[in-house]
Amino acid sequence: MTAAIPVRHMDFQFDARELDDQFYLKTEFATAFFEALSIFLTFGEDLVIDTARYHRQFLTDPQLKQRVTTLIAQEAIHSKMHNQFNDELAKHRFPVPLYRFLADKVFKYGFKQLPHRMQLSLMAGIEHFTAVLSEYMMKHEQVFYSTEDEKQRALWMWHMLEESEHKDIAYDVFQTLSGSYPLRVAGFALAAFTILVLVPLGGSVIPLLRKPTLALHPRYWKDVAYSLTLLAGPKDGVFGSTMGHILDYLRPDFHPSDHDTTEYLEYYKEKLLHPETGLLTPYLVREFVPALRA
Ligand SMILES: [Fe+2]
Ligand SMILES: [Fe+2]
Repeated sequence: MTAAIPVRHMDFQFDARELDDQFYLKTEFATAFFEALSIFLTFGEDLVIDTARYHRQFLTDPQLKQRVTTLIAQEAIHSKMHNQFNDELAKHRFPVPLYRFLADKVFKYGFKQLPHRMQLSLMAGIEHFTAVLSEYMMKHEQVFYSTEDEKQRALWMWHMLEESEHKDIAYDVFQTLSGSYPLRVAGFALAAFTILVLVPLGGSVIPLLRKPTLALHPRYWKDVAYSLTLLAGPKDGVFGSTMGHILDYLRPDFHPSDHDTTEYLEYYKEKLLHPETGLLTPYLVREFVPALRA
């Protein structure tokens, strides 16, 4: 039996004046990837919410239903907080309205038109990628500490903690209601295309959209090369070094919990949520566990 996961209401009060636009290890280019992710993720989260809500009615196990309610609530708060953060990004000339416009079209006329079973698989695929990312981030805590931007740090650490907490819920729903391996692979492929192609593409043009003159500075191109190793480097890069974990999803008997993050989760909960010293404590409004209903 899995322990129930809480839902945490947060309030960060983001302020554009405190925003570090070189948040990720003092880079322009890698930071832009994460800011693009912040914008696009909210659409992925809205898809997860709608899909989970639709499929919850077909579940019979009260515990799984309760976990789905937690997933929906956690994602709803992620989406809300990232949207508030993204509003501040817009004040730093990040192309927030443009990317919201584009993502809205891709989701409305693309993903949301897919059959429900395919959306269910896509949801599980998206959640696999956020699980991989959260495990990487929990194992590489130092990436959050080259900045003074405490709120952005708290936003990402809180989000990553919860992605890891709920990493197997979407997958369990998919396996319960479908379990089709070919369909799982199709959802994975679509999620991979979105997260490994569309988001990086969106991120890659941000620095020059914001400051076109950067192209004239050799310093910027050094930043690009360094950022690419941070993101795609096989040794320690966010996606380069986690390719094995990403592709493990294709193993027919894969389960998210095969990648045990219990120890990291315990460490993070203590570090982030300790009533006096927790990094998230100043921003935590309240937390609750959804009721168990038959
Ligand atoms: Fe999320
Ligand atoms: Fe998630």
